[in-house]
Amino acid sequence: MKNSYLNLLCFWCLLCLLIFPTLFCQASRPLSNPRLDNAYTAFQAWKRAIQSDPMEFTSNWSGPDVCNYSGVYCASAPDDPQITTVAGIDLNHGNIAGSLPEELGLLTDLALIHLNSNRFSGTIPESFNNLQLLYELDLSNNLFTGFFPSVILSLPSLKFLDLRFNQFEDSVPSALFDLKLDALFINDNKFRSSIPDNMGNSPVSVIVLANNVLDGSIPSSFTNMGGTLDEINLMSTGLSGSFPPDIDRLSLIVYDVGFNNLTGPLSENFGEIKTLEQLHVSHNKLSGNIPASICSLPRLLNFTYSNNYFSGDLPPCLKFLGNDYSQNCFLGRPSQRSTLECSSAPA
Ligand SMILES: *[C@@H]1O[C@H](CO)[C@@H](O)[C@H](O)[C@H]1NC(C)=O
Ligand SMILES: *[C@@H]1O[C@H](CO)[C@@H](O)[C@H](O)[C@H]1NC(C)=O
Ligand SMILES: *[C@@H]1O[C@H](CO)[C@@H](O)[C@H](O)[C@H]1NC(C)=O
Ligand SMILES: *[C@@H]1O[C@H](CO)[C@@H](O)[C@H](O)[C@H]1NC(C)=O
Repeated sequence: MKNSYLNLLCFWCLLCLLIFPTLFCQASRPLSNPRLDNAYTAFQAWKRAIQSDPMEFTSNWSGPDVCNYSGVYCASAPDDPQITTVAGIDLNHGNIAGSLPEELGLLTDLALIHLNSNRFSGTIPESFNNLQLLYELDLSNNLFTGFFPSVILSLPSLKFLDLRFNQFEDSVPSALFDLKLDALFINDNKFRSSIPDNMGNSPVSVIVLANNVLDGSIPSSFTNMGGTLDEINLMSTGLSGSFPPDIDRLSLIVYDVGFNNLTGPLSENFGEIKTLEQLHVSHNKLSGNIPASICSLPRLLNFTYSNNYFSGDLPPCLKFLGNDYSQNCFLGRPSQRSTLECSSAPA
């Protein structure tokens, strides 16, 4: 009896190996292991923490085969390729209302969490500090509240952090800029603090802090980001002060500081940032001439500078029609500030 059972098993093994390597071997691999058991616990706890799921993303989250749940992605465990484990969660655009339970910390092999455009609220569980492999965390466009989730600062593998369009408040921790991130999006929250002095430690290629209240000035360490930074957006963050003098150390592609209170000149060495494609300084209190060097930027596609106190001659390349120079102090051009305003231009 036992022998024939073994024979049968061997027969299936051979068939597996020879004929249907993917189909049958996948199906006959033990579906249960301690990590998937933990994952089952985590997903059932999460399901209980969900109050509304209009697109029915989680309606098939039942039974032990968590790898078959919608939005759940499994892979071989990095430390043991024989074991299947949960590697990713993608519930983007689910419009799901609920919260994140502590049990999510049981998903210790997670590399990706994408929860963009849902109605998750509350805070990020402390148990996230178990997610030592987490590489991408996208919680954007949800209803999360509270202080900056400091548990994020203890994730050693994190490269992509997206918290934009939530209700996080209070200060942005300086430790955030010591993480080895590639991309950081915290725009459109309710953060209120100055930008930490160590911003320049961050190795990101993209950083977006726009639409928070980060009053204060651009930290002078900013120009240390020259090696990696391609894109920075500090639009509408309540910034004041002037540009760092050594701005040409950066090799930016997109530089957006519109809608702030920046003062002082746009220095000649902006023309040295040969990589620039987008430069947005409109709606500030900048003054002086617009340097002619701007016109020698080989890739510049869009330069916005209206609503400042710029004066003198417009550089030749900015004289074309449709170029918005309004609300500045250019002599003889329409839609400029009054003589009185221009004579009291902020220094
Ligand atoms: C996954 O779910 C589908 C139903 O959507 C089912 O047909 C299939 O058998 C399930 N797979 C496993 C391995 O349970
Ligand atoms: C759940 O739904 C997803 C996508 O709609 C499907 O791929 C999967 O097989 C379903 N799982 C079960 C257990 O029905
Ligand atoms: C500029 O500063 C003034 C005075 O402090 C403040 O009322 C205003 O909101 C600031 N504007 C921006 C765009 O930050
Ligand atoms: C230039 O950028 C501004 C601000 O981002 C945008 O409103 C405008 O449409 C852009 N213009 C072109 C020609 O791309």
